[in-house]
Amino acid sequence: MSKTMQAIEITTPGGPDVLRPVTRDVPVPGHGQILIKLSYAGVNRPDALQRAGQYAPPPGASDLPGLEGAGEVAAIGPGVTRWRVGDRVCALLPGGGYAEYAVCHGDHALPVPDNMEMKQAACLPETFFTVYSNVVMRGGLQAGERFLVHGGSSGIGTTAIQLARSMGARVFTTAGSDEKCAACLELGAEVAVNYRDDDFVAVMKGAGGANLILDMVGGDYLPRNVKALADDGRLVQIAFLNGPKVELNFAQLMVRRLTITGSTLRPQSDLAKARIARALERDVWPKLASGQIAPVMDQEFALADAASAHARMESSAHIGKIVLRIG
Ligand SMILES: NC(=O)c1ccc[n+]([C@@H]2O[C@H](COP(=O)([O-])OP(=O)(O)OC[C@H]3O[C@@H](n4cnc5c(N)ncnc54)[C@H](OP(=O)(O)O)[C@@H]3O)[C@@H](O)[C@H]2O)c1
Repeated sequence: MSKTMQAIEITTPGGPDVLRPVTRDVPVPGHGQILIKLSYAGVNRPDALQRAGQYAPPPGASDLPGLEGAGEVAAIGPGVTRWRVGDRVCALLPGGGYAEYAVCHGDHALPVPDNMEMKQAACLPETFFTVYSNVVMRGGLQAGERFLVHGGSSGIGTTAIQLARSMGARVFTTAGSDEKCAACLELGAEVAVNYRDDDFVAVMKGAGGANLILDMVGGDYLPRNVKALADDGRLVQIAFLNGPKVELNFAQLMVRRLTITGSTLRPQSDLAKARIARALERDVWPKLASGQIAPVMDQEFALADAASAHARMESSAHIGKIVLRIG
């Protein structure tokens, strides 16, 4: 195995053009870690935030972007018992996914589901860890509940629609075009609101209110989400694309027994991420293996063309996941 590899680095905070090819040393797996020879890496909105200087890697993580990928185990660090060299895995990465090789905690890797291509498997970890932990573990979604996810055509949204539907929830969503709304309906949403034409608050109130909302928009959506919740409803915030500051009448929380919570995945402990991985393997991996759920693929770009992948993501023209082809 070569001691060096091709990777994409963030040369300075800025637009997609600051992503440039570079040669780096192949990382060495430490205690509890594995080294993966990546075939594909997933592209996620947090990568664009990191590139723009708004989402610093946690201490000890690679400075290279890339939070997920799939490939073959190339080396095993001390203390790892589950994996063997050559195993096909997809993994949640602490960073460093835009590269030929990446290291991760052995407990943050999952087997590539049966019959799934590496390209699809590379798209699973970041959105499935995020959606499962926020919708199921934190949000407590139950069968029969009305679930609203904003940004339904995003990587997160397409995952959330399918997962909630597979659990027997009634799924409502918002998206920014009729084409995106149609894609959401095809994935199993009962209602898809084009937010440029219609008011999701009125739609949800008409349906009895949302029991659970997963939101990445924030800003003026925060008071509107609170209005759209049913009594005892829960709002889980995973990003604030429209800003985190807003005026809100908190009396409604008390009177209608609402819960507002949220989380970000990346800074959580290794143990917390390992728990999510085990829950996913138990509850969701069989649905992926059977084809009941499948990642929605947008476009594929070569690793060296990561800048174009980011430009596409930031155009918001995509539906589903964008991937980088590596090896
Ligand atoms: N908390 C966590 O741990 C965590 C983990 C992963 C991702 N996230 C967040 O989840 C969100 C979705 O991630 P993703 O990777 O699935 O990204 P993505 O595919 O790019 O999705 C973002 C979508 O949000 C919609 N949107 C609504 N308002 C927007 C605005 N003001 N600016 C930009 N887009 C807007 C866009 O679709 P429309 O055309 O419908 O507007 C866009 O397609 C991101 O905000 C990301 O940072 C959070």
